Amino acid sequence: MSEQPLRRLGVLGSGKGSNFVAIAEACARRELPAEIALVVSDVPDAAILERARERGVPARYIPPGRFRTKLDEEAEAAYVAAMREARVDLVVLAGFMRILKSEFLSAFPDRVVNIHPALLPSFPGLEAWKQALDYGVKVTGVTVHLVDAGVDTGPILAQAAVPVLDSDTPASLHERIQEVEHRLYPEAIRSLLAGGITFKGRRALRLG
Ligand code: GRF
Repeated sequence: MSEQPLRRLGVLGSGKGSNFVAIAEACARRELPAEIALVVSDVPDAAILERARERGVPARYIPPGRFRTKLDEEAEAAYVAAMREARVDLVVLAGFMRILKSEFLSAFPDRVVNIHPALLPSFPGLEAWKQALDYGVKVTGVTVHLVDAGVDTGPILAQAAVPVLDSDTPASLHERIQEVEHRLYPEAIRSLLAGGITFKGRRALRLG
């Protein structure tokens, strides 16, 4: 068992929240020395909010503002304020479908992580499992990375491979990728919080 203090995670998600559940369960089992301080969604009826509430985790819908793929200025400030009020050490994107701009990222420098359903830098963007299947690769996978101003371009923290089968449909491949996500994301966050991940020789995160 780790002797680190419990770190506070803020989770942003737009969808069903299966990665949130995997992380919450790893925290409950004490495999991850962290607690989820807050879940925020840009979708009022996203299942991730329900999954959080049924576990007693504070969960809020914060309106995203007038754009479709990013937060507007006012919304971004509200998201930053919510995460700051919850005193989060790390922001965890778990299926959050909007790009975060510099206002948010500079409030949490090198402290925003994301999970992507492919082996970056291959297949950034939407429906990466479908992109992989359409391209015809034999192996795809999962990437956990720090978030920077690009789309799926930040420093890579952890990756795991998933074979593509001849019989795969987009749905079957996505399902196997998600199983790997649920193992890799909590593990990568645990290593990151413990200071055990480097990127190009530099430690990826230093918490005080
Ligand atoms: C995951 O497949 C993740 O890779 C992508 O969004 C999906 C979120 O799924 N970024 P869930 O809401 O955690 O089930």
